[in-house]
Amino acid sequence: MIVREWDPRVATATEITTLVETLNAVMSVDLPDDPPWRDVLMREYLSVTMPGERKISWIAEKDEGDLARGVPILGFASILLLGDIGVVECLVHPEMRRHGVARALMHAIVSQAHSDGFQALGVEVPGATPAVDFYSSLGFRRAFTEQRSVLDLDTVDWYALGELANGVAAGYTLRFYPDSPPDDLIEAYASAKAEVQDVDLGDLDLRPSSYEPDRLRSSLACLHARGLRPYIVVAVHESTGVVAGLTEVVVPEQRPSRADQYDTVVVPAHRGYGVGRAIKARMLFELRSAVPSLNQVQTWNAAVNEPLLKVNAELGFIADREWLEFEAEVPDLARTLGIIS
Ligand SMILES: CC(C)(COP(=O)(O)OP(=O)(O)OC[C@H]1O[C@@H](n2cnc3c(N)ncnc32)[C@H](O)[C@@H]1OP(=O)(O)O)[C@@H](O)C(=O)NCCC(=O)NCCS
Repeated sequence: MIVREWDPRVATATEITTLVETLNAVMSVDLPDDPPWRDVLMREYLSVTMPGERKISWIAEKDEGDLARGVPILGFASILLLGDIGVVECLVHPEMRRHGVARALMHAIVSQAHSDGFQALGVEVPGATPAVDFYSSLGFRRAFTEQRSVLDLDTVDWYALGELANGVAAGYTLRFYPDSPPDDLIEAYASAKAEVQDVDLGDLDLRPSSYEPDRLRSSLACLHARGLRPYIVVAVHESTGVVAGLTEVVVPEQRPSRADQYDTVVVPAHRGYGVGRAIKARMLFELRSAVPSLNQVQTWNAAVNEPLLKVNAELGFIADREWLEFEAEVPDLARTLGIIS
């Protein structure tokens, strides 16, 4: 087995296609109900980062050059180096498991994180998969648990949904923006996000939000460049012009039948007026006509976020599986993997 750094920016089309096949082989075993990935903008998906972030990838091959020859690889791993934490991804072909491939890939990741002076690594792990035992075996501990829920658009009662979308109190206007909020709304949009950023649910911030206008602009540009198309509904409080609430859904070009629900925010002063329910319901209406390929929307929520869980249940989201955030200190991992003594 050979583990080597691999740069998707300069990879050949065959390499990218072979990687997508490996990814889909993994998905079909670990998350069989999730739709497969398409080989569309995959290079960009794998390589583009926000300014100031860095992503490094590795592959494990049986023989050097397998990936370029279109031969299935043993595994793939990456690390996204954020402010002070490295976010890990690691996957191994289902037919090549329990032969130490993932451990060898983690050796490369931890060596890099250690020499770059990173203190901690985090990883998001789907519950009830072998990854839970794998990361536990390396000394990772569970830091946070979320529930993933999925809404099947086929099951939506569109009449009832219309009532929810129209159920907002007087004095609020809902607006839908495919792509991005318009530039004159970006400041108000970022302030609405900033107002709720202090609600610390205790998670590791492995998918950080953007709370100030320039970072928000960069984040939207980064999503577009990665083939992740954002759709936004905002509730504007008419008399003050402030953004009272917002909800963001992203449709990946790589998997256009299943969208990801990103942030939903209702500013505290505007809670209790039906804003959260209305913006999420309106979003589903808009998506139905704007994205004909879409069948499902998935969302992740902490068990402590009761109001949002209630809204999601009303909309028809069904709990799917737990999603766990694991964390470990780099020096501890480096000792476990024999990188330092
Ligand atoms: C998790 C995953 C990467 C492990 O790959 P792997 O190459 O089989 O793991 P390794 O052979 O290096 O295992 C190292 C140790 O992890 C533990 N482990 C790994 N898989 C395990 C399993 N199915 N059951 C129990 N322990 C397991 C064991 O302690 C193992 O050592 P051992 O085989 O000597 O007992 C692989 O199952 C996978 O690709 N899962 C899907 C992708 C995924 O969900 N990744 C997490 C999000 S990034």
